[in-house]
Amino acid sequence: MELDAVRNSYARWAPVYDRTFGAVTNSARKDAVAYINREAGPDVLEVAVGTGLALSWYAPDKRVTGVDYSDEMLEKARARVDREGLSQVRALRQMDARELEFPDASFDTVAAMHMISVVPEPERVMREMARVLRPGGLLVMTNHFAREKGILARVERFSAPFANVLGWHSDFDIGVVTGTPGLEVVERSPRPPLGMMTFLVLRKV
Ligand SMILES: C[S@@+](CC[C@H](N)C(=O)[O-])C[C@H]1O[C@@H](n2cnc3c(N)ncnc32)[C@H](O)[C@@H]1O
Repeated sequence: MELDAVRNSYARWAPVYDRTFGAVTNSARKDAVAYINREAGPDVLEVAVGTGLALSWYAPDKRVTGVDYSDEMLEKARARVDREGLSQVRALRQMDARELEFPDASFDTVAAMHMISVVPEPERVMREMARVLRPGGLLVMTNHFAREKGILARVERFSAPFANVLGWHSDFDIGVVTGTPGLEVVERSPRPPLGMMTFLVLRKV
């Protein structure tokens, strides 16, 4: 997607996101944060944090920084942090994931949920997320990736040209993620709804 399309699309999504796409995808999001609480180091960067649906679930000993390009989505996340008094959230910043404003090796953990099929230049975003991870750090992702066959694969291919309206690419190739230099896949499994989401953990080598 182009950055302008991201801005426009998520300005429209922000008021209804938590009750629509956010609700349908919560299971994978919860699993990702549970994994981070159990297995990953304390300094967490959540890239494309959106309305902050996952923020309340991070354990109190985590130090979470969230970034997102959309001011409207971030406004929702900030309101949530204030409302729920989430002391594990250190900062929420407006930022383009293609140019993360952090030095190399700043974080133990990067969380990237339902975002890699949204961002412009996803290969560049993958390289940026790898760059800010410390060696041995974990990138924990959830996303929908393209199916190779079946009715759903046909639906995905049909809706692919509407990415700028939908707000994501419906036929995103997982190879863009798994082929990132310097990252190795340590876990990959399907998640609801209907196994349509993939839970993926990559380690910085
Ligand atoms: C489908 S939402 C996912 C939000 C959140 N991660 C979640 O699980 O609910 C995709 C998010 O990606 C953000 N986004 C898209 N392009 C971006 C970019 N270049 N930099 C930062 N955030 C971006 C959008 O603003 C939106 O909040």
